[in-house]
Amino acid sequence: MSSELSKTDAAAQSARLDPARLPGHVAIIMDGNGRWAKQRLLNRVRGHEKGAETVRTIVTTSREIGISTLTLYAFSTENWQRSTLEVSALMLLLKKFLESEKPVMMENDIRLNAIGQIERLPDDVRNVLSAVMAATAGNQGMRLNLALSYGGRAEITRMTRAIAEKTASGALDPSSITEDMIASYLYTRDIPDPDLLIRTSGEMRISNFLLWQIAYAELYFTSTLWPDFSREEYLNILRAYQQRERRFGAA
Ligand code: FPP
Repeated sequence: MSSELSKTDAAAQSARLDPARLPGHVAIIMDGNGRWAKQRLLNRVRGHEKGAETVRTIVTTSREIGISTLTLYAFSTENWQRSTLEVSALMLLLKKFLESEKPVMMENDIRLNAIGQIERLPDDVRNVLSAVMAATAGNQGMRLNLALSYGGRAEITRMTRAIAEKTASGALDPSSITEDMIASYLYTRDIPDPDLLIRTSGEMRISNFLLWQIAYAELYFTSTLWPDFSREEYLNILRAYQQRERRFGAA
């Protein structure tokens, strides 16, 4: 066992977690930034800024205890319908986050990946995103996936079109389409499915997130607003996950 592994094992144990039963992939719907700001009579953008600080805490904690993949719903296909001001503020925040976190990702051996309609992002954001993804491509400690301009239905539509084109051209026999093949046409093709999906802010919805991939994920909803979501609550949820029995449909 490498010293790196035992370091994460020790961190998990000190957090009263069983390192052997951690979820390999945690996905999070980060909700409640707007309400957090409203409660304080602040602009919604302040909520997103505070939310970005929570992102930092949760990324670092995940890496420290040995989570292999963390996927964060940072911007949905529906979020483009928000005011131009809010969309621009979110894009700027994302760009600043990528710039400031690049050294942290390098230091912590974190590989950045993005899923979603990346081509819809503004050029400057896309450039920084590509640069950080390229710089961190060799990192193996943890994979951080940012879902950006992501929608589960759009992803499934894109996959269906690609497969339909192949069948129409005769390159693919419809009877040879399998679940594994479908998964290989999704943005998440080289990533295992989430084991645990967390949503903050009390809403009990999936909101078009990883529709195919969460088939067997354990779901956890908390009423805490994302900017208030803490390392301690995250560890509590991971402990609760370890109490659950996963049967994947078997008796
Ligand atoms: C939901 O809050 C959150 C978002 C739409 C975006 C999430 C963005 C961040 C956490 C900050 C930036 C992200 C990164 C990766 C730096 P909401 O506005 O829907 O809240 P509400 O439901 O209370 O209005």
